[in-house]
Amino acid sequence: MPVKMGRSFVLGAVSRELRSGVLVLDSCARVLYANPYILRYIAFRSEEGLSEKGVEGRELSSLISNPTLLATVEAMLAYKSTSGGSKETEPGAVEPEEVEPEEVEIEIEEGGRSFSVRGVPINEGEDFTLLLFLNDITEEKRLEAIKRDFVANVSHELRTPLAAIKGYSETLLDGGVDDEETSREFLRVIDRHATRMSRLIDDLLTLSRLESQQMAIVPTPVDLSELLSSTQMSFRKHAEDKGVTLSAEVPENLPVVSGDRDRLEQVVVNLLDNAIKYTPEGGSVILKATLECGAIKVEVIDTGIGIPEADMPRIFERFYRVDKARSRDLGGTGLGLAIVKHIMQGHNGTLNVESSPGVGTTFSFTLKAS
Ligand SMILES: Nc1ncnc2c1ncn2[C@@H]1O[C@H](COP(=O)(O)OP(=O)(O)OP(=O)(O)O)[C@@H](O)[C@H]1O
Ligand SMILES: [Mg+2]
Repeated sequence: MPVKMGRSFVLGAVSRELRSGVLVLDSCARVLYANPYILRYIAFRSEEGLSEKGVEGRELSSLISNPTLLATVEAMLAYKSTSGGSKETEPGAVEPEEVEPEEVEIEIEEGGRSFSVRGVPINEGEDFTLLLFLNDITEEKRLEAIKRDFVANVSHELRTPLAAIKGYSETLLDGGVDDEETSREFLRVIDRHATRMSRLIDDLLTLSRLESQQMAIVPTPVDLSELLSSTQMSFRKHAEDKGVTLSAEVPENLPVVSGDRDRLEQVVVNLLDNAIKYTPEGGSVILKATLECGAIKVEVIDTGIGIPEADMPRIFERFYRVDKARSRDLGGTGLGLAIVKHIMQGHNGTLNVESSPGVGTTFSFTLKAS
């Protein structure tokens, strides 16, 4: 025979399992009820192991130190004492209009996290209770900030080449340039900036497809020996023009890996491009592959400018560049490594970087042989 659960038992279970905090206060800001979530998440004054029962009857200010929250609660309780229906009305005086105390919603920061707190006053005749609902919105805020930064970054990156294109084309249209050589030079500048814009948009589209998983990796057998050698060859001329020695140490018969050839090639292209870009004339870049415990480790080793320790954790972020002005001069938008990271994640590979400023940098990734 099914056992009927009591209503209060069910309500208790619901509030215990809620992924948001519930706090009920009386008219003197004393706790009538606190659910386990709020006990865990709000900054109770460093008292460990407070229980639901242990906080009952305690003043809110003895448990929570957040000044914004305390001030809001105080204001709501003061509001109640001026608008509540409990005051005696003088005989003959006009009945004060019943004012519904209002809900209040605020955001607070506590212990490095953000919470939204909704205060709901409940007037029941003489009784007044204040319900506080608390939600952790840290992740939402983080995503909001990323979105904001992203739009700001893209706009900024597009504005620079657009301003150049506009400036040079206007000068040409105004007929301000007489000789053909200068006109051609202006057109070359316009072309360079247009190329830069289209590269930026290509990279953004690649990233957004990788992130939205639209570009699901269709695994096919990939011959890494061939991929690494041919990619290295395609950078030969570029390295030579820059006065950087590029060499490869790639065994001929590396086991086949399972992955997306074009994407893996993009990883190697982006890493080699960086290595050559951030290595001054006279330096060297080595593309190396080794077999380690059934996995293939690919390293791009350069003797370039290196990456300061403080910047290391951020270099895989979109648009992050150690030296913005320098990277932009070199035609970079700071998306290369973000793309590398996504592709490696899609291949369940590992990605590593070691660097000493002024000495050089080694980026490496490993892929399981199939
Ligand atoms: N081999 C390297 N040596 C020194 N610094 C590097 C190296 N690789 C990357 N970096 C640093 O990391 C930053 C991010 O690299 P990423 O490839 O994402 O962007 P980028 O090269 O500036 O632009 P893009 O790749 O979009 O053209 C670079 O701006 C640079 O500061
Ligand atoms: Mg790059």
